[in-house]
Amino acid sequence: MILPIIGYGHPTLRKVAKPIDKDYPDLKGLVRNMYDTMYNADGVGLAAPQVDLPIRVVVIGFRPYDEKTDSYGEPTEEHTLVNPEIVEYGAEKDWFNEGCLSVPDIHEDVLRPTTVRVRYWDEDWQEHTDEATGLYARVVQHEVDHLDGKVFTDRLSNLRRTMLKRKLNDIASKKIRTKYKMK
Ligand code: NI
Repeated sequence: MILPIIGYGHPTLRKVAKPIDKDYPDLKGLVRNMYDTMYNADGVGLAAPQVDLPIRVVVIGFRPYDEKTDSYGEPTEEHTLVNPEIVEYGAEKDWFNEGCLSVPDIHEDVLRPTTVRVRYWDEDWQEHTDEATGLYARVVQHEVDHLDGKVFTDRLSNLRRTMLKRKLNDIASKKIRTKYKMK
């Protein structure tokens, strides 16, 4: 089931999301809906607060894109992170052009560590610790920011944010059209 995504300016995006426990009802159903919602919007990561649920659940998934048919193949990598915690940041940092399904039409370079160690549970409540690198490391940090009430534009310089002010206001006042459902 595809869930509506909330946009920049919605108060849930600014809340610190709460951890869940094993009593959380139908976690697997929620996770399935989050993957459906993310892929439907051509995203690579989605945090529960973006579907108006202030809980610490994240899905990340990568699919190959075929230019000839303008379509996506089956996912090659998926990570469901429940109550994730970044326990260590690598020393090296890099710039990467980020976007966000809650901040449509804005893409900006963000500086972040290139590797992180992340501890989390999956939807079967198995505990994991991953040494994340590459795109996975990037998306984990972006999504954990969402759980802490932050969006990627918070990490831009004051100058960049000032330049984006009108676009951000347009998103907040729902003047932006998206091909996926927003509320
Ligand atoms: Ni995002």
